[in-house]
Amino acid sequence: MTLDDTVHTAEATGGKYVGRSIPRVDGPGKTTGQARFAAEHSYPDLAYAALVYATIARGRILAIETSEAQAVDGVVAVLTHKNAPRMKPAGNLSPFDISSIAISTSVNYLATDEVHWNGQPIAVVVAETPEVANYAASLVTTSYEQWGAKVDFASEVPNAVPDKGIPFMTGKADKGNALGALATAPFTVDLEFSTPQYNHNALEPHATTAVWNGDKLTVHEGTQSLTGVQGQLAKRFGVPKDNVRVLSPFVGGGFGGKARPWAGTLLAVLAARATGRPIRLALTREGVYHTVGGRTASIQRVALGAGTDGRLASIVHTSVSRTGRVGGMPERITEVSHEMYAAPNIHLQQSSVKLDLVSNTFMRAPGEAIGSFGLESAIDELAWEIGMDPIELRMINEPDRGPVSGKVFTHRKLRDAYALGAERFGWKEREPRAGAMRDGRWLVGMGVATAHHTAMQLTASVAIRLNADGTVVVRCAMQEMGMGAPTVQTQVTADELGVPLESVRVEYGDTDLPWGSPAFGSVQTASVTSAVLAACTKLKQAVLILAQRQADSRLKGRKLAELKAHDGGLYSGAKGHKYTDILAAAGREHVDVAYKPNIPAFLARTVRDVGWRPKAATGAQFCEVRVDADTGEVRISRWMGVFDVGTVLNARTAESQLRGGIIMGIGMALSEHTIIDHRTGRIVNPNLSEYHVPVHADVPHIDVHFLNEPEPHSPLGLLGLGEIGVTGVPAAIANAIRHATGKRVVDLPITLDKVL
Ligand code: MOS
Repeated sequence: MTLDDTVHTAEATGGKYVGRSIPRVDGPGKTTGQARFAAEHSYPDLAYAALVYATIARGRILAIETSEAQAVDGVVAVLTHKNAPRMKPAGNLSPFDISSIAISTSVNYLATDEVHWNGQPIAVVVAETPEVANYAASLVTTSYEQWGAKVDFASEVPNAVPDKGIPFMTGKADKGNALGALATAPFTVDLEFSTPQYNHNALEPHATTAVWNGDKLTVHEGTQSLTGVQGQLAKRFGVPKDNVRVLSPFVGGGFGGKARPWAGTLLAVLAARATGRPIRLALTREGVYHTVGGRTASIQRVALGAGTDGRLASIVHTSVSRTGRVGGMPERITEVSHEMYAAPNIHLQQSSVKLDLVSNTFMRAPGEAIGSFGLESAIDELAWEIGMDPIELRMINEPDRGPVSGKVFTHRKLRDAYALGAERFGWKEREPRAGAMRDGRWLVGMGVATAHHTAMQLTASVAIRLNADGTVVVRCAMQEMGMGAPTVQTQVTADELGVPLESVRVEYGDTDLPWGSPAFGSVQTASVTSAVLAACTKLKQAVLILAQRQADSRLKGRKLAELKAHDGGLYSGAKGHKYTDILAAAGREHVDVAYKPNIPAFLARTVRDVGWRPKAATGAQFCEVRVDADTGEVRISRWMGVFDVGTVLNARTAESQLRGGIIMGIGMALSEHTIIDHRTGRIVNPNLSEYHVPVHADVPHIDVHFLNEPEPHSPLGLLGLGEIGVTGVPAAIANAIRHATGKRVVDLPITLDKVL
């Protein structure tokens, strides 16, 4: 068995720290202001950049007037397509070039007079202070030739084109005759749902500090993908990858909005090159809306047909989403229906339209956040139609294998999640009739929905150093944006090496470190954990060899597999040595190991163990709402999520991730909505005062439970949990409102006018 063949399970570690609620190792730095984010790095001669945004959706710049801006005291440069140095083109998305996923739009900013969306950056002002830069940017005036633009999603829906399959995002499926079975089913529902555009609102707006030193570039940037930023900048500025260092030790939230470098990153680097000065470009909140693609608007049809026993005969799930004309990706909305319910007849199809808006992008649980709203609302409505409990209906249709693929799940515990949730939430207290539970003027309703997120794993490189004093340094270019990444890797390392938590330091957030996994697609923890486990094994092996070289070694002839790491050393029963003694006897300051994945072996193992079988985290969302009978105001009064995310490495950080996802889902359901002017394509509410993310008063206590059973093919048995929290949330809320009021709302967000 080679290292790459080893699958570590939770039991294998012995778990002194894994599974415990350990406070974040970077918490004190963040709460005391020691942590420095991308816009908080100072350099001698630092200048500040501000962007000027186009005010038409599509066309050409006829004239751009910069002299007034240029004349402001403190302005260093005003860059436009007339005078800016050219970047190289973005290139194309390619399945053979993983770094091509970092392309956010195809626009070559400041290289052309063309405008592709309202809000596209068309000039950069560099000044001695941010105030001067912003003021001078407001003085730039532009005249345009306007071309016909498509900016209204709803009016383009009839022109939608079926998506061609994208690798790993199948979307389309046909099994049996779904439409025929629908027509003859005793019970049917056929609903059309709509969701609006949503935008990422991370606490830290996107910011970049860029410094050129000859043809070497240093960039401080909050990112979910260090290597994506590095690769894209190297390509756009024509320098070798190794010349670009990206530092991102702290990221104030990403949610997919920082998975790729957007205009601000590129233009900060361009401005630094053009002016020869270090540049800081911190986007305003409005700037983030202008330049970072949000979640697509969508419509979906979900039609379900069932027999009198509740068994599904037919699932029809089709969708339309939008991309930008200059980039973005079709949203995998129907993906969830590949895995959720058994049915002999299934028809799934995704379509999309191209709009003259900033490219859409990943936003927490792309596809499944939207798709689960449609599917989980429709199944609830079917339960009303049949007169059956919605949990019972789900359990009747719970598949024993992938409904489309026919392949056995690697792990599926949804029945357990619902059983535990129903008991803990008091589902039995739910009066089945609509509008029957009342508390004064409040109509009370209870709803459920299934959470689902496909689990993927990549791989990573990790270097570990064991010092003579027994301390350990783990180095990996992974990202931390609040979810607890270095904390859980500290726990895993401490357990694997049998050293105290305090002895381990994890270094991350820097492209100078060994290549790490990106922090998107909920893949990072599984990916990095597998590498950390392998590196720890390598380290123990190296230390064992050192120990066995000593004449009086108590571990002579022992194999690593026979030993246990604990109390800061390697032991066979009571016999063994402390690491500090081994290194002292060998006269070593430290022992270094590096683990580099063998990619073909990694892929071969993945195919052997998982193949194309469905592997996913799942969960059951339970919610109680109160709806004001007179005003339609909706308050969420209770929430419980029961999740099967495999092994939980750290209950505190895991709960926090899932709570955050649920809160994001509450916003998606009730208040968030990016409003786009149908005539101009301009975002009307690009700010937190008019785009309503939930605040504390909107969020009840959220109970999070874990089944905590290891998934058999994942490192330590863990499944990604970054994104699943948001899935199912809008449907659970809509279903609870249906129970409270009798009204089925199919259009998000569920504002009062839709409830009355
Ligand atoms: Mo996630 S939307 O892949 O950051």
